[in-house]
Amino acid sequence: MQANPITMDNLQLFETGDGSPSIFSNKFGVSYHSKYGAIQETQHVFIDAGLRPKALTLHHIDILDMGFGTGLNAFMTLLEADRRNLSIHYVGVEAYPLSMEIVADLNYAELLKAPQFAATFVNLHDCESDVSNKLNPNFSYIRKQTHFEELDYDQAFDLVYFDAFCPTSQPELWEEDLLGSMYRALRPGGILVTYCAKGVVKRTLKSLGFTIEAIKGPPGKREMTRAIRGVN
Ligand SMILES: C[S@@+](CC[C@H](N)C(=O)[O-])C[C@H]1O[C@@H](n2cnc3c(N)ncnc32)[C@H](O)[C@@H]1O
Repeated sequence: MQANPITMDNLQLFETGDGSPSIFSNKFGVSYHSKYGAIQETQHVFIDAGLRPKALTLHHIDILDMGFGTGLNAFMTLLEADRRNLSIHYVGVEAYPLSMEIVADLNYAELLKAPQFAATFVNLHDCESDVSNKLNPNFSYIRKQTHFEELDYDQAFDLVYFDAFCPTSQPELWEEDLLGSMYRALRPGGILVTYCAKGVVKRTLKSLGFTIEAIKGPPGKREMTRAIRGVN
């Protein structure tokens, strides 16, 4: 990584506390990950609190990633699927894809000691939108270049990674409309995980029918949220 951040497309690459890179968006005024550690946060919030509990009961898991960004959630899910021989179908939604110039600077495959998957990490970003790709035997994937607000899924997923920018930056993405569409997108018993633990967000999720679990957050954050869809 370079000592000085690189600025491209109004985005700045920077190194987080665990040595992994993330991006600061000047447009939204926030970073894509916790400054304490991008890999550490993804591991804690999405893999440990979302994917692993789901994998206890399901071998095939349909995942909706709300905020594909750098592709780190997708990539760490692919590595976990490979390690545990899971079958994952993954839809990564992103309205503002990164340039391939920035993607080339994201050395996640090296940091995660998975250099054999470096080309697959690039494929996550450069495949055609809306087309299903079997990226490896354990992982099929659709890159969906659209706005979250356009989605209209009905009981299609077991797990939602809700990784929009924080409510202070994009409050409209944490209101009843979009969170309600996440409820409908999940199958009964489906799980939504997010790094956000704001009271108003938890109350909205609860009012939609989710059961809320406040669990310990990643380093630097006291709490995160796991929300479980009821049967209706
Ligand atoms: C917190 S970042 C996601 C971080 C990502 N999971 C990662 O590992 O890099 C939020 C993402 O949502 C995208 N985004 C913001 N508003 C959006 C919208 N209305 N629809 C779709 N994507 C949006 C941003 O471009 C950004 O990539």
